Amino acid sequence: MTTTIGNPSQSHSQGQGHSQSSSIDHDLFRSTAGRYASGITIITGHHDQGPIGFTCQSFYSVSVNPPLVSFSVMKTSITYPRIRDTGSFTVNVLARNQEALSNQFARRGTDKWAGIPWSPTTQGNPIVEGSLAWFDCTIWAEHDAGDHLIVLGRVIELGTSPDRDPDPLLYFQGQYRALHELDPA
Ligand SMILES: Cc1cc2nc3c(=O)[nH]c(=O)nc-3n(C[C@H](O)[C@H](O)[C@H](O)COP(=O)(O)O)c2cc1C
Repeated sequence: MTTTIGNPSQSHSQGQGHSQSSSIDHDLFRSTAGRYASGITIITGHHDQGPIGFTCQSFYSVSVNPPLVSFSVMKTSITYPRIRDTGSFTVNVLARNQEALSNQFARRGTDKWAGIPWSPTTQGNPIVEGSLAWFDCTIWAEHDAGDHLIVLGRVIELGTSPDRDPDPLLYFQGQYRALHELDPA
């Protein structure tokens, strides 16, 4: 399948379920991108008034040497500019039983940290209790990307939970999923 943006004459898309257009419908783009499964993270930081954070799906590891990770954040985010002010952040990789936490940190205008135990990294960023893994980073670069910003972080400290058989929180087609759903009965 080929989908060409901007020059449909070079497209060879055919058949059902394929789409080509110089202006891709937003809902179609979202639903197509939703077929890419991912984990879920909470990006945290610390500010004068205390801990801050938001739910983020768009995390991935970028480079081993130097150790770099990345996420993209909506330009409308209230939390990210405050994280940028401090120059550092922590990525918390969520476990299967942290679905409520993911929803809590996706809600604006609420006390996202109500009832959430956490401990600080060396830089003072919150590690959320129960996370499968965490990466504490300094901001390495930030790139403009349409309605989002792509943020690159240099990892300076990291850790994992003692769990020997970790069960991650997954996200696919707009829904939370679990690895064990895929296991034969
Ligand atoms: C499952 C899930 C994944 C999300 N992934 C992202 C993401 O990758 N980038 C982003 O900017 N917002 C993402 N969001 C939305 C933010 O968490 C949400 O807009 C949050 O309210 C932003 O908080 P803020 O305005 O305090 O920064 C996601 C939300 C959910 C529920």
